[in-house]
Amino acid sequence: MKIAFASDHAGYELKQHLMDMMRSRGYETVDFGTHSTESCDYPATAHPCAVAVETGNCAFGIAMCGTGNGISMTLNKHQGIRAALCWKPEIAALAKQHNNANILVLPARFVTQQEADSIVDAFLDASFEGGRHQRRIDKIPVAGCNC
Ligand code: RB5
Repeated sequence: MKIAFASDHAGYELKQHLMDMMRSRGYETVDFGTHSTESCDYPATAHPCAVAVETGNCAFGIAMCGTGNGISMTLNKHQGIRAALCWKPEIAALAKQHNNANILVLPARFVTQQEADSIVDAFLDASFEGGRHQRRIDKIPVAGCNC
């Protein structure tokens, strides 16, 4: 299973850590950057990461920037993306169970690597519940807003 990764400079070290963790578990990682701690703009890595998940080339994504906000905003411009900013394992589990999030976003400057590991684990362990939640996510795309 291929997992898409994206970060800016603020998330670079956490991205490297989580890619190592996922590879050690047998996942294939696809790294859309950034590739150092040199300052960069998160849309440059967020957009290709979003496309990889939207097209099915990657099963899901893990992304991060300093707060998680900028990269979430960018990812969620893609109509097939449900990027969820998660700073606790419980939020990550609910992002999968209720929102069927396809990109997990972490606020790299506000979680430790250990906390990030637990957040990723909670996301991986959870399953989408469907039902009323499917009805709600079907209404998210702009094309279906009826207004
Ligand atoms: C970079 O300094 C910071 O602005 C960025 O990582 C992110 O937090 C933006 O939303």
